[in-house]
Amino acid sequence: MRIIFQLLLVLVAIFLADILQDKVAFIPEFIVQLPEVDYTRRDFHTVIVYFLAVYAVLFTLQTVWLGGWRPGSAPSTVQQLYGLAAGFAVSAILIFITSAIAFDPNFIVGIAVLTAALFLLVFLVASWMEDTSWWSNVGALCTGMVRRLFTVSGVLIVLLAVSPGIMAKLYVSDRAFANYVTQIRIWFSHSDQSGYVLVNALGGRLFTQPMMVRSDPVDAARLYVLERHGRVLVLDYPGGGEAQVVLDIRDEVGDVESENGALGLAFHPQFGQPESPSAGDFFLYYTSVHDGQQVNRLSRFTVGETAAVTAQSEVPLMQLPREPSGFHNGGTLEFGADGFLYMAIGEGVHPKGARDQSQTLRGGILRIDVDCAASARSRPPSRQPAAGKTANYCIPLDNPFLHVDELMEEYWAIGLRNPYRGAFDQNTGWFWVGDVGSTQWEEINVVRAGGNYQFPFIEGYEPTTIARPSQVWGTEREPLYAYVHTAYDRAVVGGFVYAGEQFPALKGRYIFADNYSSRVFSMPATGQRVDAVEPVVTANQYAQRGTSSLTQLGNGDILLTTLGRSGAATGEVLRLVPDDAATGPLPAPAATGTDAPVTAQEIRELYVANCARCHGLAGDGQGPDAGLLQVPLPDFRSPQYQSAVDFETMRRVIVEGGPAANLSPLMPSWGHLLTDDEVVGLIRLIRQFDPNNESDQGAG
Ligand code: HEC
Repeated sequence: MRIIFQLLLVLVAIFLADILQDKVAFIPEFIVQLPEVDYTRRDFHTVIVYFLAVYAVLFTLQTVWLGGWRPGSAPSTVQQLYGLAAGFAVSAILIFITSAIAFDPNFIVGIAVLTAALFLLVFLVASWMEDTSWWSNVGALCTGMVRRLFTVSGVLIVLLAVSPGIMAKLYVSDRAFANYVTQIRIWFSHSDQSGYVLVNALGGRLFTQPMMVRSDPVDAARLYVLERHGRVLVLDYPGGGEAQVVLDIRDEVGDVESENGALGLAFHPQFGQPESPSAGDFFLYYTSVHDGQQVNRLSRFTVGETAAVTAQSEVPLMQLPREPSGFHNGGTLEFGADGFLYMAIGEGVHPKGARDQSQTLRGGILRIDVDCAASARSRPPSRQPAAGKTANYCIPLDNPFLHVDELMEEYWAIGLRNPYRGAFDQNTGWFWVGDVGSTQWEEINVVRAGGNYQFPFIEGYEPTTIARPSQVWGTEREPLYAYVHTAYDRAVVGGFVYAGEQFPALKGRYIFADNYSSRVFSMPATGQRVDAVEPVVTANQYAQRGTSSLTQLGNGDILLTTLGRSGAATGEVLRLVPDDAATGPLPAPAATGTDAPVTAQEIRELYVANCARCHGLAGDGQGPDAGLLQVPLPDFRSPQYQSAVDFETMRRVIVEGGPAANLSPLMPSWGHLLTDDEVVGLIRLIRQFDPNNESDQGAG
């Protein structure tokens, strides 16, 4: 009964904290500067469940060990308050690590403060009513609290209580720590693989923060890799081998913290065509940081004999000074079918970045003619940006805002925040862009000429706190898909509409990723709004080490770059392959005894070749073909399953097929293909999918 009352107090505190959390700073700003967090109703329910569960256990333990809480008693209330502190720490850490909610430290700490306040209040009232000497009782509580501090358990509980704070501080200040925590958090979330895995695409080669890759336009056996700190490398594809450095402007790029660095690369449409004067030309969009001064720069380079010669060929097109934070630079460079260069640029954390665009190039897609040769289609720019300099390109005569004084002529679309990655759909010509959002929404947009994507007054589908301007330029367009931040899906990386034949299930779908979780998703690319997407795969590096780009090659290969740790070659170029084509996380086969006629390795190969496509490499019943069968497959990892099925039944099913044990005929018979020893070996292997089962019991 008393425990119910205690839990009720906790519940009241949670509701109070919910009401107060955006009005009261429970954590003073001088302790930690907290990021803005938007948590949703769903998150709120999760918080209630975690807190009540932890406190239910805690109050029960306290009651059993120390007797129930006597609210009028000072010593008993001291126990309660220390218990509350411990329960708070455990709840906070569990919520942070094992749940997917957007974690709001102010709200969580608010719950702790208010719970303690309510318990105190009950103590004050109870001791008042018990008519003992009220003041001495209050005094006893204070001295009890202080005395307890000098006991071993008191010190331990205080350490426990501040540990979430220490964790939060480390999480925002130490990237390595944040990355490890993110890894654990994603591990705790449902793993939603659907038959694909990612493998190193270049023979195991590692890179220093690879940002993107591009196939050589004329030689598909050469792959260009752009490294964030300012190098362009070319390697054999798919062999990898020795990398040749095409360009090295690391000195010019400077500091690559925040979102700085070499962001986008595009080949001139005539790259590799020997008769063209632009045969060796490519374009690079990068940030340059010198003495604290930051510039977004677009330049043209010509591939030379050496990397140094290439660097000397630099012809700048745009030099745009920006705020010193280093965030929101955009990054994509793509040539359209019209031969013009499309460049995605972020709002640069400028206070009016996406609003005042009459003299600045920020927060949109720019479209320029890098050749100026087709004079009938373009003309030189008529004005310069207020700060910085543009040169060596022309303005297409059909740019949508050419005659709008309030917008620079370069704009092709506006109202974007940080359009980091984008690509044209070869079939429809639509320009698909992933627009990285602020604290709540991530957007997938199909960007069209003259479109206004509504930042900063609308994000996702919801108005922000910034008022809609009196005059909105361009045609307002909503995203085709928008997702709300969770603990680990929080920065979209735009991909492409898959046009290859290799993965029929993905054909014609839009493939994109989240940088933070490194999860890859697909959605219909019909141009209609979509409310749900399907998971494809998760890369092995998360958070700031995670996915930087997604690319499809001419042969249908899908490549993904992951950054890895900064300052060390730990980034990868990964290739998507079907689950059963990879030698994945199959448990190491145990020795089958010295007299085993077939080796464990051979059994493992038999399983991979014959069984994994349905039963899954990990024996989880989630192989790539499992979805087609319309019968649930057994989960070989489950101890319940293993103990329910005896050796003889398994043997009969494998030899004679499913119907032999009244199971689905979709389990083929293998008697004509496998020897008795092989069947026995396979059963032993299946037994070992159950992590609790070390032996091969039943196999004899
Ligand atoms: C085409 C898909 C497919 C392939 C390939 C396949 N299985 Fe199965 N398997 C099934 C289905 C379907 C079931 C039965 C599900 C049911 O009806 O409950 C099953 C059931 C089983 C069972 C469970 C028997 C029991 O009594 O619960 C075992 C063991 C098994 N398979 C082993 C294997 C082995 C070993 C291989 C490879 C040599 C293999 N399977 C290949 C589809 C497949």
